[in-house]
Amino acid sequence: MDSFIPLLLVVLISLAYCCVGQRKDSEEDGKLSFLAVGDAGGFNYAPYYTKNLENVAKQMGKTAKKTHAKFVIGLGDNFYWKGVKDVHDFRFNATFENIFRAPSLHRTKWYMLAGNHDYLGNVSAQIAYTKVSRRWHFPDFYYTTVHRIGGTCKTVQIVTIDTTLLCYKGGGIYPGKREQYRWLNEILRNSEADYLVVAGHHPVYSIGMHGSNVCLNDKLRPLLEKYDVTAYLSGHDHNMQHFKPLYSNVHYLVSGSASNHNQLQYNKHKVPLNSLRFFNGKTGGFTLLQATPRHLTVSFIGSHGKILHTEKIPPRKTRPCSKKNTKAPFIIEDFEDSVLGAFFGLQEDNELRQHQRERHTGMNG
Ligand SMILES: *[C@@H]1O[C@H](CO)[C@@H](O)[C@H](O)[C@H]1NC(C)=O
Ligand SMILES: *[C@@H]1O[C@H](CO)[C@@H](O)[C@H](O)[C@H]1NC(C)=O
Repeated sequence: MDSFIPLLLVVLISLAYCCVGQRKDSEEDGKLSFLAVGDAGGFNYAPYYTKNLENVAKQMGKTAKKTHAKFVIGLGDNFYWKGVKDVHDFRFNATFENIFRAPSLHRTKWYMLAGNHDYLGNVSAQIAYTKVSRRWHFPDFYYTTVHRIGGTCKTVQIVTIDTTLLCYKGGGIYPGKREQYRWLNEILRNSEADYLVVAGHHPVYSIGMHGSNVCLNDKLRPLLEKYDVTAYLSGHDHNMQHFKPLYSNVHYLVSGSASNHNQLQYNKHKVPLNSLRFFNGKTGGFTLLQATPRHLTVSFIGSHGKILHTEKIPPRKTRPCSKKNTKAPFIIEDFEDSVLGAFFGLQEDNELRQHQRERHTGMNG
């Protein structure tokens, strides 16, 4: 009888462990959640953020916690009005670290890319900040990462591009336009991901103030369609928009209302007929993406936590995965361009780029 109570305790404790463990697993396994936020650059005078940004950041913290978000994609215009000066710029604290304060947003990696406003300052300093911050991850002007959906062999590949370089400033001290195009073409062509997501600053389609981008329609859109890209994420116009042209499978999302938002619709007639599924410029917000083996659910979330729009996108047509695939060395969480480059034989390209950059640096110095 005496030994019965300790035994009962052991059983109860084991049960508790098992069930808590199981619940945790079922929340995280089979689903990969991540956020995207655009134009979070705050303001160029004290306090260096907007009320809207503060609300959006708070809400992102709540959503990241609830969904166990693994990472955030920053869609550019990270610092208004003129980017940062160097890696010690106080704006890294004033507009990023002190704003995205929630513990859940410290557990996530932040995959960053540059917007046009960042180019009014020093983008190399934003890249260099990767070594300063534990969460800020901006290894190069453009790069790619692959993430596995927990407990499955399904993958989500994020391809982070620099549309300012691709369409406007490429060449000189920066990687050239053709160089980035060639890299992007290779990465997309070789992707075996179940969901292939491309992220850049300028939108392909927009009815907002800036409107659809002619250069991206010429250069980028054909690649997205040809290689069956799941979604293209962008910012630049300060609103939330979702397009799905009837003639293609690609979903185009604009999420540029982290710091400011407006309802301007100057370019309503410059997008494909019946392609606009959703528009909101009334509130600030961000995007939640949740991948399961069956679909990628995209949701726009407003700065006060309301789900404004949501849609399920099917996976690409990829080879069915076997048990063997799960263990394949190249499917690991967070593997990056250098590894990808080696795997797809792109190392030479990277080296070439490195040489070119060293050469340019040498020329300048
Ligand atoms: C840009 O930032 C980097 C890193 O802090 C610094 O080394 C470089 O001198 C800066 N460039 C200019 C033009 O200020
Ligand atoms: C940013 O904040 C951290 C932590 O408070 C501090 O150590 C660092 O010196 C600050 N950086 C700048 C450039 O102000």
